[in-house]
Amino acid sequence: MSLILAHRGASGYAPENTLSAFEKALELGAHGIETDVHMTKDGQVVVCHDGRVDRTSDGSGRIYDMTLAQLKELDFGARYPGWQKRETILTLAQLLQWMEPTGLELNIELKFEDVLYPQIESKVLELVAGAGMAQRTIYSSFNHYSLRAIKQADAQARVGLLYNAALFEPWRYAAYVGADYIHPYYVTLQAPDVVKNCHLNHIGVHPYTVNDPGHLAWMCALGVDRIITNYPDRALAVCASALEGVGFKA
Ligand code: G3P
Ligand code: MG
Repeated sequence: MSLILAHRGASGYAPENTLSAFEKALELGAHGIETDVHMTKDGQVVVCHDGRVDRTSDGSGRIYDMTLAQLKELDFGARYPGWQKRETILTLAQLLQWMEPTGLELNIELKFEDVLYPQIESKVLELVAGAGMAQRTIYSSFNHYSLRAIKQADAQARVGLLYNAALFEPWRYAAYVGADYIHPYYVTLQAPDVVKNCHLNHIGVHPYTVNDPGHLAWMCALGVDRIITNYPDRALAVCASALEGVGFKA
């Protein structure tokens, strides 16, 4: 059965990339979480999807222009409809510390905006290793140069290529880059035999962001290795029943 990764935590149920969203993912039985990282003005790696705080907090501005202390003043629960609890931004170090005893897998997506964060790859690797999470972490990015940097710094690190176009024979490109996985926008898996050929070439397939029950069933039937979703409980149920339908027990 495909493993289920909660996208930005269980972001269908709690403000994205907050401790509440990660706790909800654990509670719902996800196998792991996907999260996004940026760098602050004072060189701290923090967990947030956008390069700016405007959409998800009560503040305004670019993360790279703000110190961690300034970011910690903001409420990242403020923009989630009906959410009463205050949510402060997590550093990657704080997230790793929370995760280590949970047994969850971690997919860290390295973000880049109009700025390439200096040495973010080595900082992230150092934080992950320091927290004892190296074996349970997968790195992904739309910036494939960043993933090459990760691999060059640590040949054991597992990396997945994020992309949203229907690349031609992506398993060949993944092998060329030296990636372990592809992380495609899931609709691109309509192209024939992508999962089969990736597997023949020892490349894992982790589509994002699959929320619709029919699309989840489609991904399970394709035999993808992990599914990135805002609704981990829904994905677990759909995949379990899809397997029952073909005579397997999840
Ligand atoms: O890592 C999968 C997915 O998170 C990529 O897109 O924009 O949600 O970070 P985005
Ligand atoms: Mg992401």
